[in-house]
Amino acid sequence: MNSTSPLPVVLAITGASGSAYAVRLMQVLLQQENPVHLIISDAAREVARRELNSDFPANDAAPEIWLDFLNQVLLTGRASGWGFATNHISESCRLFVHTQKNYSAGIASGSFLTRGMVICPCSMGTLSSIACGASTNLIQRAADVHLKERRTLVLVPRETPLGLIALQNMTTLTTAGATIMPAAPGLYHQPTTLADIVDFVVARICDHLKIPHSLMNRWGTDD
Ligand SMILES: Cc1cc2nc3c(=O)[nH]c(=O)nc-3n(C[C@H](O)[C@H](O)[C@H](O)COP(=O)(O)O)c2cc1C
Repeated sequence: MNSTSPLPVVLAITGASGSAYAVRLMQVLLQQENPVHLIISDAAREVARRELNSDFPANDAAPEIWLDFLNQVLLTGRASGWGFATNHISESCRLFVHTQKNYSAGIASGSFLTRGMVICPCSMGTLSSIACGASTNLIQRAADVHLKERRTLVLVPRETPLGLIALQNMTTLTTAGATIMPAAPGLYHQPTTLADIVDFVVARICDHLKIPHSLMNRWGTDD
């Protein structure tokens, strides 16, 4: 990485509902030439199969298979009527996929610089493991690193209602420096498609990573 390259974003996808948020976020990050370090939990793969009727490519799949997946998955199959427009991600995009147990990956160390980390969607299981510092897989370890290095860490949980344990874990994480950003899309931007609703959540995540976007109109800017 030379000194002018953007710092990479770490994106972890876990087994909460909302695979489309993760795919859309990956599209936006890669389209803007942000390097992405990706980790997908086994449960996230199961959820994506059910929600998108599609499998994430294997961790070691060729770059063209990943590109094809990212360009097609929100336009075909279950998501074909959701209102997403055609995307084009350049072949020169930088996507690095890690297995859950690869503790030798750079992102397992604080000396590896990043722009921040997002866990989207974030299961209650992963959230609780991070809150207690378990670090039992690379997702939890990388999140722990972001907290100790005082870097941006955004968790996008999807659960309702929230029990006391989840609420306490969220308080612990917020106190430790993380941002809890529930996948709770607003309706004030008058969405007409599921794509509008997905983009609302992705837009708020990008804002916290300081990634420019035009995914939705900002409140107060159309007067
Ligand atoms: C279809 C499906 C939907 C799920 N939705 C959620 C959810 O919205 N929130 C959640 O916390 N867990 C949800 N789960 C349960 C998690 O996948 C499960 O707790 C898993 O152990 C999480 O593992 P991970 O954190 O390693 O991804 C769901 C599971 C399935 C199969």
